[in-house]
Amino acid sequence: MAKKLFIQTYGCQMNVHDSARMADVLAPLGYAPTATVEDADLVILNTCHIREKAAEKVYSELGRLRRLKPGGARGPTIAVAGCVAQAEGEEILRRAPHVDLVVGPQTYHRLPHMLAEVASRAGAAIDTDFPADSKFDALPAPHAAGPSAFLTVQEGCDKFCAFCVVPYTRGAEVSRRAAAVIAEARILVEGGVREITLLGQNVNAYHGAEAGLAGLIRALAEIDGLARIRYTTSHPRDMSDDLIRVHAEVEKLMPWLHLPVQSGSDSVLRLMNRRHDAATYRRIVERLRGARPDIALSSDFIVGHPGETEDDFRATLALVEEIGFAQAYSFKYSPRPGTPAAEMDDQVPEPVKAERLARVQALVATQQSEFNRGFIDRIVPVLFDRPGRMAGQLGGRSPHMQAVHVDAAGEAAAHIGAIVPVRIVAAHAISLAGRIEPAASGTARAASA
Ligand code: SAH
Ligand code: SF4
Ligand code: F3S
Repeated sequence: MAKKLFIQTYGCQMNVHDSARMADVLAPLGYAPTATVEDADLVILNTCHIREKAAEKVYSELGRLRRLKPGGARGPTIAVAGCVAQAEGEEILRRAPHVDLVVGPQTYHRLPHMLAEVASRAGAAIDTDFPADSKFDALPAPHAAGPSAFLTVQEGCDKFCAFCVVPYTRGAEVSRRAAAVIAEARILVEGGVREITLLGQNVNAYHGAEAGLAGLIRALAEIDGLARIRYTTSHPRDMSDDLIRVHAEVEKLMPWLHLPVQSGSDSVLRLMNRRHDAATYRRIVERLRGARPDIALSSDFIVGHPGETEDDFRATLALVEEIGFAQAYSFKYSPRPGTPAAEMDDQVPEPVKAERLARVQALVATQQSEFNRGFIDRIVPVLFDRPGRMAGQLGGRSPHMQAVHVDAAGEAAAHIGAIVPVRIVAAHAISLAGRIEPAASGTARAASA
């Protein structure tokens, strides 16, 4: 009998990808996706623990889901997966007794077994192990779901930044063997994938190939039909010379890098245990730009980390001014239980955090729109991966990760999965509008990145 699966995803791209993989694990059991929670037989919240707000959202959503089980009725099976599941385990059942199943990020391949357990007895099932056997060996082969795909190559983190829960929720750094990654990439490309984004919490610490991530990218670039390679998220400490060189050598590696720096102040970077200073970051960016002059940078910033003074914050603004980011995410520091920063003196008051956040966001927004405006009247190769909101509209991505929309009228569907030259006609806050270059029509599939 067909059963319906509703998954709500919070957090990072790794979680987005894990949600898709959970759906793959459950498909053989007869679960098909649904977009409405009301008719679901199984509801999975795939959760994020990175900031307090993200974690608390889960409990308010769980509160809303209680209506699906009125008066203790059986209702759908409710599962909590992801990083809150890992961090809080049993606590979730205490706060939300209507939850049936709690599964961490490293054990979701055991979902079928856990569901059988839930069905066969009254109690809830919990699995937040860090098993020695890799979940990847147990997961079904991936399948292409559109022209752009994620591929996890590394998980976990050994960096222990003072503010961060990820080393606790995702466990120690583990790299998948290059052969397994390359085999998956081939399956994806055979299924029509043109762009692969290699995922890892610390993807450039990857050590499953002889020459690390650099070696893996060189090997993947050999796959015919694969046009674009990206990787995320990187740590400045693992930005090796060889990896920087790959940006010069491998044309398929897109000119875009998300390289979080968090702060421009050396004393805050020290308190954060980032183990590099601002000058090192500047030097890395300089060398990346030497290797690939058109590379654009993206970053994450935390404002109001314990000990951050106004001068420290100004050092962050100065770094942003100097480097010029095409995009960046910034966050108010959120104290997380069990992390060293939560215990530090000199916590920054909330209004100060809010004020600093507004300042850095304003600066970054200016840089982002300047960056995007620079593309007006240029022709960029766009990988179309989805229909637009209006009929005849198409959406895709530029090499620099910009969302690009065009009107393609009658021929729209034919372009999905193709990389097509597009003339940019307008730049909006976070997207570009363009026109398909007339000469390209009909030969779109021959165009390359
Ligand atoms: N592995 C990535 C980060 C993953 S978390 C890296 O090393 O860059 C994504 C972002 O969330 C981080 O870059 C950081 O900017 C932010 N973040 C992490 N912990 C936080 C906290 N306690 N409060 C506010 N922001 C935080
Ligand atoms: Fe968190 Fe730091 Fe690891 Fe990134 S490198 S996941 S910020 S501990
Ligand atoms: Fe959140 Fe876990 Fe990703 S804490 S950011 S979902 S690794």
